[in-house]
Amino acid sequence: MPHCYAELNPTERVLMGPGPSNVPPAVLQAMALPTIGHLDPEFVVIMDGIKAMLKEVMLTDNELTFPISATGSAGMEACLCNLIEPGDRCIIGINGVFGQRMADIAQRNGADVVRIEAPWGQPLDPDEIGQALNAGNIQLVAVVHGETSTGVLQPLEEIAQMAHEHNALFVVDAVTSLGGHPVRVDEWGIDACYSGTQKCLSIPPGLSPVTFSDRAVQALENRQTKVPNWYLDMTMVREYWGEARTYHHTAPVNTLYGFYEGLKLILEEGLENRWQRHKRNHQLLVAGLDELGLELLPAPEYRLWSLNAVKIPGGVDDLAVRKQLLERFNIEIGGGLGELKGRIWRVGLMGYSSTPNNVILFLEALRKVL
Ligand SMILES: Cc1ncc(COP(=O)(O)O)c(C=O)c1O
Repeated sequence: MPHCYAELNPTERVLMGPGPSNVPPAVLQAMALPTIGHLDPEFVVIMDGIKAMLKEVMLTDNELTFPISATGSAGMEACLCNLIEPGDRCIIGINGVFGQRMADIAQRNGADVVRIEAPWGQPLDPDEIGQALNAGNIQLVAVVHGETSTGVLQPLEEIAQMAHEHNALFVVDAVTSLGGHPVRVDEWGIDACYSGTQKCLSIPPGLSPVTFSDRAVQALENRQTKVPNWYLDMTMVREYWGEARTYHHTAPVNTLYGFYEGLKLILEEGLENRWQRHKRNHQLLVAGLDELGLELLPAPEYRLWSLNAVKIPGGVDDLAVRKQLLERFNIEIGGGLGELKGRIWRVGLMGYSSTPNNVILFLEALRKVL
């Protein structure tokens, strides 16, 4: 008997969680354009456009700037597995889930990990990183710019400067900040940076933009050992994205159409305008939450505009609230991860989802549910 499966018919949600964010129709339309070969001369032109636009969005002149064909975690893995050699001493900042993930990946790649920790909800203390650097022989420092599990924005410039004074590479996770907050790769001296498409870039999940500075490329070229991960070995992937266009893997053609269109929309809006929009909508949300008697976890000067960690008031059932928001109001927000499970809601205002209308809709829905 032939199987009969239901038609795909996902509900259009208001995506206000930790990602994915809502996707502009133009991006979805771009993804439905005819698939062509990934080495087609027309596709090569699209790839060149992607690289040029991504450099503008990441504020970098780095030649090695392109999307990895996998999600943000692959960008994390790509930066670490290409720049760490067995036995390297690496400082990893840990104040949430994604710092923990970096430490895990660094360890799997043979690093001797120096963990610099801060309580979840607080930023890392640059002085502690400075002391660890002074203790000597550090090859790499890695921190998360926007810790999605806590809503904390980590200031980067001081850490970058200290890392360079000690000749260490500086790696940054910009998954939740790129496109919503300034991420000034060249000006701040970031050596390797990765992001994801599904947050402030508002492109469906599936790609991870990465960039490597000349110093990082030099470190890559001076490796004593082969990069242990075949798929993410930048010495090979860059040959596909570079002049040679040597086949490495079959690029996800239609996903890259969406990426192209999404980057174009970001540059049309203007980076500065986009950052200000994220800031304004975050402030609108904070003011409304205040009226409801609700507080954010991080101190005001360390708050992400893209991800708001809201403390759940005592006696309120986390899951029941989120379930009602979804079922009655069609709004998705996120729950806490790890030690913050049941203690915070994570309210995303990312990319296309960062609008005053969404803020008002969410506040009104939350007021009714509470
Ligand atoms: C800060 C941060 N880093 C890394 C990741 C991993 O990205 P992905 O889930 O796309 O693999 C995420 C995902 O939420 C994140 O928020």
